[in-house]
Amino acid sequence: MGSLPLPFSEKPEETMKRNKINIAVLVSGGGTNLQALIDAQESGILHSGKIVLVISGNPDAYALKRAEKAGIPTAVACAKALGREGAEARILQLLDTYAVDLIVLAGFMSILSRDFTSRYDHRILNIHPSLIPAFCGVGFYGLHVHEAVLKRGVRITGATVHFVNEIPDGGDIILQKAVRVLDSDTPESLQKRVMRQAEWKILPAAAEAVSLKILNEENKP
Ligand code: GAR
Repeated sequence: MGSLPLPFSEKPEETMKRNKINIAVLVSGGGTNLQALIDAQESGILHSGKIVLVISGNPDAYALKRAEKAGIPTAVACAKALGREGAEARILQLLDTYAVDLIVLAGFMSILSRDFTSRYDHRILNIHPSLIPAFCGVGFYGLHVHEAVLKRGVRITGATVHFVNEIPDGGDIILQKAVRVLDSDTPESLQKRVMRQAEWKILPAAAEAVSLKILNEENKP
């Protein structure tokens, strides 16, 4: 006699499927992009991934407080204290412990080694505060980007989310959003507008799109 068919939810292959991947967010500073990801998770914009860990490159980063407030586990991997290799080894160990599928660099100010990036090929996202390939690469980070934009006199800037490879800001582009430069802008006012109008929107959108893609690939019949 053949065995009875199992109800849908009890089929062994169905019980293996998960509906969220594990995300780690790496930060170094204020963490407004981390906050945008947390808010997106709470509002359901980010629903195919869950932030399971926040790692800071700086023990004093305010981003750590934002994570704690949201009930997300935190850790510090400080290159000044551990050296670059030591900090990367610590990060790799943490990613393994938390079974992380996707890494989001949200204002993380260290450049990751080729050894590190090759282990997470197309599994690391970064938000950069310009329209790549303009104003990017070594030396272009944080406020320096907006200073350079104003110095050059461009009328349109913006933000880019891209995959991270061994070339600083050189990986495949996922999303970009343009922002107008105003005559009255200072580096600080421009930074705020780029964050509000571009970064805080495209980073959660890209994190969701890539998380969903990873899930779909995993759940392919
Ligand atoms: C953001 O503007 C981010 O795009 C930039 O640092 C800031 C971090 O702010 N990242 C880079 O410049 C990377 N090259 P946050 O800590 O408030 O998210």
